[in-house]
Amino acid sequence: MSGRDGRKTARNRIKPSTSTVSGEDPPDLRNRKGLRKERGKDQLRILDVNFVLLGFIIVASLVALLFVFYSVQLSEGDDRLPRVITPFPAPKVMDLDMFQGEQKESLYWGTYRPHVYFGVRSRTPESLVAGLMWLGIKDGRYFMRHVCQDADDLQTYGWNKHNGRDYGHQVLMDHGMTLTTSFLKSKVNGSGYGGDWAVQVGVQSEKLNEEVPDAAHIFFYVADEGQNAISLGRSVSDIYEKSLLAYGSRADVGGWELHLKSMDNFDVHHVGLRTPHIHNLSDLVQAILGMQVRNFGHLELPDTSDDASNILVYQISARTPFRADIAFVTGTDSDDDRVEGRVDSLTGTSLTSQLHEKEIEFDDKFKKIFNPSDKIDSESVEVGKAAVGNLLGGIGYFYGQSKIFFPQHKHRSDGDSILYWPAELYTAVPSRPFFPRGFLWDEGFHQLLIWRWDKHISMDIIGHWLDLMNIDGWIPREQILGAEALSKVPEEFVTQRPSNGNPPTLFLVLQDMVCGMTRNKFSATESKDISAFFERSFGRLEAWFQWFNTTQSGKYKSSYYWHGRKESQTIFELNPKTLSSGLDDYPRASHPTDEERHLDLRCWMLLAADCMHSISEQLMETKESGKAYKETAKLLADFDLLNKMHFDKDYGAYFDYGNHTEKVRLRRQLVEKSGNQPPSLELVREVLEQPELRLVPHVGYVSLFPFISKIIPSKSWILEKQLNLISNTSTLWTNFGLRSLSKTSSMYMKRNTEHDPPYWRGPIWMNMNYLILSSLHHYSKEEGPYRERAETIYSELRGNLIRNVIKNYKQTGYLWEQYDQKKGNGKGAHPFTGWTSLAVLIMAESYSEC
Ligand SMILES: *[C@@H]1O[C@H](CO)[C@@H](O)[C@H](O)[C@H]1NC(C)=O
Ligand SMILES: *[C@@H]1O[C@H](CO)[C@@H](O)[C@H](O)[C@H]1NC(C)=O
Ligand SMILES: *[C@@H]1O[C@H](CO)[C@@H](O)[C@H](O)[C@H]1NC(C)=O
Ligand SMILES: *[C@@H]1O[C@H](CO)[C@@H](O)[C@H](O)[C@H]1NC(C)=O
Ligand SMILES: *[C@@H]1O[C@H](CO)[C@@H](O)[C@H](O)[C@H]1NC(C)=O
Repeated sequence: MSGRDGRKTARNRIKPSTSTVSGEDPPDLRNRKGLRKERGKDQLRILDVNFVLLGFIIVASLVALLFVFYSVQLSEGDDRLPRVITPFPAPKVMDLDMFQGEQKESLYWGTYRPHVYFGVRSRTPESLVAGLMWLGIKDGRYFMRHVCQDADDLQTYGWNKHNGRDYGHQVLMDHGMTLTTSFLKSKVNGSGYGGDWAVQVGVQSEKLNEEVPDAAHIFFYVADEGQNAISLGRSVSDIYEKSLLAYGSRADVGGWELHLKSMDNFDVHHVGLRTPHIHNLSDLVQAILGMQVRNFGHLELPDTSDDASNILVYQISARTPFRADIAFVTGTDSDDDRVEGRVDSLTGTSLTSQLHEKEIEFDDKFKKIFNPSDKIDSESVEVGKAAVGNLLGGIGYFYGQSKIFFPQHKHRSDGDSILYWPAELYTAVPSRPFFPRGFLWDEGFHQLLIWRWDKHISMDIIGHWLDLMNIDGWIPREQILGAEALSKVPEEFVTQRPSNGNPPTLFLVLQDMVCGMTRNKFSATESKDISAFFERSFGRLEAWFQWFNTTQSGKYKSSYYWHGRKESQTIFELNPKTLSSGLDDYPRASHPTDEERHLDLRCWMLLAADCMHSISEQLMETKESGKAYKETAKLLADFDLLNKMHFDKDYGAYFDYGNHTEKVRLRRQLVEKSGNQPPSLELVREVLEQPELRLVPHVGYVSLFPFISKIIPSKSWILEKQLNLISNTSTLWTNFGLRSLSKTSSMYMKRNTEHDPPYWRGPIWMNMNYLILSSLHHYSKEEGPYRERAETIYSELRGNLIRNVIKNYKQTGYLWEQYDQKKGNGKGAHPFTGWTSLAVLIMAESYSEC
């Protein structure tokens, strides 16, 4: 979640990186390629020299090259490829058979561009991409809509239904205009690789007042990221006779054609562009339209094309309501006769009826998997569908290179960076407009849902993440891959630090997978694939575990803490942030030291060790290596040890431990600036008391981790204390869910800096509420004196969470990143159908399988 951190915490001093590759810089991957090219040139030059000389030159140049190569490596500080950008040395998870062949082809095309309102691409680095733009009208002015952004102020949008594979239905409401995009994929005899797809765009508008014209303009484009030229259909000027908009040919799918059909009257105009900048296409089109209006007084694309255009944009203008069916067919070169039939089948009434069938299929599947209808009303079920739909419809495919912090090199200044290897990532995203990229800690929560929906999509996503692991067992936590993803992130937040972790939440779903296996919950094929998946991933999971177990360990046996908190930067922070924990500004010890013990990380390690133990014993039958995990898990689940290290008897709560004082405050002071900037008044932290080693007395999500981990015996009086903290309105309880931080905490709703409003210091978050609810459910089934109390609290909390999410959805049209603890209103990013969609599992009462 560091992007989220990044956006919020402008103070987070990750220096801007300058990853230039100049002659003096140490080589990165690209320099090595350069070296190889040089070698080629040398060999060409020596061809016309006589043989004796030739032999000599070959030997000499080899020696010279070896020398160059060697010294280049020496300058790296003795390392070959720097370890941090060396991939984990094992076969890739994604090379497994189960992800190849039919699975790979069936997921080739999809709505994998979650950051635009509607976009299609394939899962390949340089894809043909397609997308939709339209002119929205607000206060009598036109605005180009394309990239999902808050400023557009749409009343609602999102995939109300989407199965993650071949069907989706989205509704977008834009100031009196309602658009629908229905997506369908089809693979028939004759289709090229990946099959064909179609989108049905519907446009309606309310006649709000005279200012709103009843004509609407939508823009559909195709663009080739590989910069192959796209040809304009000959029939663009006569769309009623022939429907061909564009065609071309690609190595992956063969010949392809794009067709437009409709029963309505259209004006179609176009423009063809040659540019690599697909990421700001809407700016380009807007500029062209502006020029047309200024020069000719009409709002029409100019019907011109650059030579060898790699982007074609079509403007479709019509009176509302209207409907346009756009069909994309592949393999057209080898299957000419049947193309027309395929286009017919993917447009008109045939398309409508196929979409209808798919919709029924989606509804049935939703009912079969989540079956919430006997527990909640039908309107709430629709919200649940929209949550699942937009999570699945928001799955994206990205390709590019992460920037990694790389300070080791003597020629580089602190804060420099190096590029990770080029990699692809198939991932669900937390929020289409705000966080349309991969986040490691969010992903584990996403997979709790996606796993239940489609096991192969889930394994495909987890496999992609595990393949991003380096030789040290580290996975960069935020993935900003490719120009489109980069265009959404401020430069200073792009760099990832290899010393920083992020909660290994994938173990949440891996645990479910193992438990399901041992309970024979899966079909024979599923079991076979899951076994193969674990067999291939095991080495990576071990390395991942070891990375945490070594780099994040604490000073005391069985203690852990999030490394990377910086005391030196804290004079402007009320409490130094712990970005790697995912809980950013959740208060920890006031003075970071290596004496710290973080309760949440300890419990994540327990989950990981326990899961690794199950995998090794039950699936891998490597009982030997299983032993170490078993021992670690046993140690971390040791109730007495936990209490010794983290329990405050007087308070009856679990706490972090560290060098801490409660007596800190921010005060406005004159701060001297470097250079010739004048001093300025800023909030600076004052420490009014010497900190000391002690438990850190903040009740909140972190203090509930032992409860979440179910370590507390159901008969223990401590369980009652935990239930008190949960159900007390002076601490965590609200009518909308549990607060992240107790009202009694000294940091409750406190700003961390001048620019950082409270984030995990009060507001209600769905992921943590889900985990806590899950434990309440567990204790409501366990014999003990507090069983009934747990049951009551469980059902009240569940009711509150569902009621509030639904109420907000109805009022605002969105699921939100967090909910206000006082009034219950949604806050922060929206639509946020990442972990907030766990509301569906709460409706379905679907918790851990273990
Ligand atoms: C697909 O096409 C092939 C060859 O054109 C034909 O032999 C086969 O029967 C067709 N299959 C279906 C399901 O139509
Ligand atoms: C599009 O992006 C490129 C590169 O980021 C930039 O040079 C160009 O000016 C942008 N074009 C428009 C129209 O904003
Ligand atoms: C984790 O680290 C501790 C401390 O070094 C060690 O004793 C334990 O064996 C490790 N666990 C595993 C599973 O390797
Ligand atoms: C706690 O922090 C204070 C202030 O930075 C420092 O003087 C002290 O040595 C620290 N104590 C420990 C045990 O690290
Ligand atoms: C609720 O918490 C407050 C603050 O810690 C405490 O004073 C009060 O006694 C608690 N109420 C109950 C019923 O436990």
